[in-house]
Amino acid sequence: MTKLNRVAPPASNMDVEALKEEAGRAACSYVEHGMNVGLGTGSTVKYTILELGRRVSEEGLEIIGVPTSVATELLAKEVGIPLASLDDLDGLDIVIDGTDEFDPQFQLIKGGGAALLREKIVAQSSARMVVVADQRKQVDTLGAFPLPIEITPFSHLTTVRALEQALDCKVTLRTKGEDTLVTDNGNFIVDAHTGPTINDPAKRETEVLNIAGVVQVGLFINMCDVVVLASDEGVVILEKA
Ligand code: A5P
Repeated sequence: MTKLNRVAPPASNMDVEALKEEAGRAACSYVEHGMNVGLGTGSTVKYTILELGRRVSEEGLEIIGVPTSVATELLAKEVGIPLASLDDLDGLDIVIDGTDEFDPQFQLIKGGGAALLREKIVAQSSARMVVVADQRKQVDTLGAFPLPIEITPFSHLTTVRALEQALDCKVTLRTKGEDTLVTDNGNFIVDAHTGPTINDPAKRETEVLNIAGVVQVGLFINMCDVVVLASDEGVVILEKA
């Protein structure tokens, strides 16, 4: 029997969009004048980027953004957030990003939007990581959301087979329409259907990274400090103990 580990029932599509906007906008309170800010990817952090753009143009907020995907770069440019490359900065004060799941230890599954590699590089360079999420993302045990893994196109079927053996589950190649999805880095994404069984995410991360064709896995271990969580009861701030 599949274990249901969601803490709240799924909201309707319209409700979910409102929750995403609430969480995304609320996280802007962590951004201060003069900060270098990692800009995540996805439909929740989109609202953070829109609000930061508004504060830049209307309130004179001075920040430098580092985008985690081409899509975020385009959006940030559109709303007037000055951007820089991570290589040109001496680290980031904060990154704000979405998540696909977070567990009680604030370990994350990310990569539903195929941006996990750049997201992880940026998160690793940030003094603080703030995650924006709606109530559907909070779980007891990671893995109901299929685990995204970025792999090389070279011998990708061999890598898929190696992953299936290592993880003892079905691993599927992600597609976009009729075609194989190609990431901003020219790689492929596969999704591992482990079910909510990832009790030791750090161990699982190492197991996956040990396979040569794997570029990166969407497990973010000990990176998240704060979750800005929107639920039917409003926005709550969860801070890592
Ligand atoms: C992008 O690759 C992902 O890590 C997203 O940050 C994550 O999937 C959350 O996206 P949504 O806010 O769109 O659910």
